[in-house]
Amino acid sequence: MDRARLDSLNIILVCGLPGSGKSHFSKKYFQDTDRRRINRKEIRRHLYEMLNFGRTWSEDKFNETDEFLVKHVERKTIEHLLQARQRLLVDNTSVTRSSRQAYVSLAQRMHCSIGVVFLNTPVKLCLERNAQQADSVPGLAVTNLAAALELPTENEGFREIVIVENY
Ligand SMILES: Nc1ncnc2c1ncn2[C@@H]1O[C@H](COP(=O)(O)OP(=O)(O)O)[C@@H](O)[C@H]1O
Ligand SMILES: [Mg+2]
Repeated sequence: MDRARLDSLNIILVCGLPGSGKSHFSKKYFQDTDRRRINRKEIRRHLYEMLNFGRTWSEDKFNETDEFLVKHVERKTIEHLLQARQRLLVDNTSVTRSSRQAYVSLAQRMHCSIGVVFLNTPVKLCLERNAQQADSVPGLAVTNLAAALELPTENEGFREIVIVENY
C-alpha cells in the first residue's frame, strides 16, 4: 500500500464484505488524518433511530423506500464535503463493480480523484467476525455478497487500486 499515493486522493473507497474489517482498517490508518469518513450503514441507523424516537435499528428494518433517502443523504454529504475541498474516505461494502460505479461517477462529476482499497478477507473469517457483531447482518447476506463479489479492475476509473488479502 503506497500511503503517499492514497493520501493524495480526494476520495478513498474502502470496500469489502461485512466483517472484512473496513471500519477497523479505516480507523486504524485514517483516524488521525484530516480525511472525513462517510458510512452508509451508520447514516441508515442514525436516520432510522431519529425518525423513530430513538427506537433501536436492526437489519430486519431495512427497506428499499428508506434506502433511497439514505443514499441521497450519503451523496449530498459527499458532495458537500468535496465542495469544501475536504478529503474523504467512504467506508461501504461495494463489492460489485456497479455499486462502486456510483462513487466513480460522482468523483468524475466533481473533478475529484478516487481510489479504492478492497479488503479481500476470506469469507470464512468475514462470517466469523460478522457473527460476533452486535449489529451483524444475516450470514446468508454475507455468502450472497461473496458470490457476487467482483474485485476492482483497472478500467473502472480508479486512480489507485489496493487489494488487501487477509486483513
Ligand atoms: N485486522 C483485524 N484485527 C483485529 N480485529 C479485526 C481486524 N479486522 C476486523 N476486526 C474486528 O472484526 C470485527 C468486524 O470488523 P469491521 O471493521 O467492523 O468490519 P466491516 O466494517 O468490514 O463490517 C470488528 O469487531 C473488528 O474490530
Ligand atoms: Mg463497518
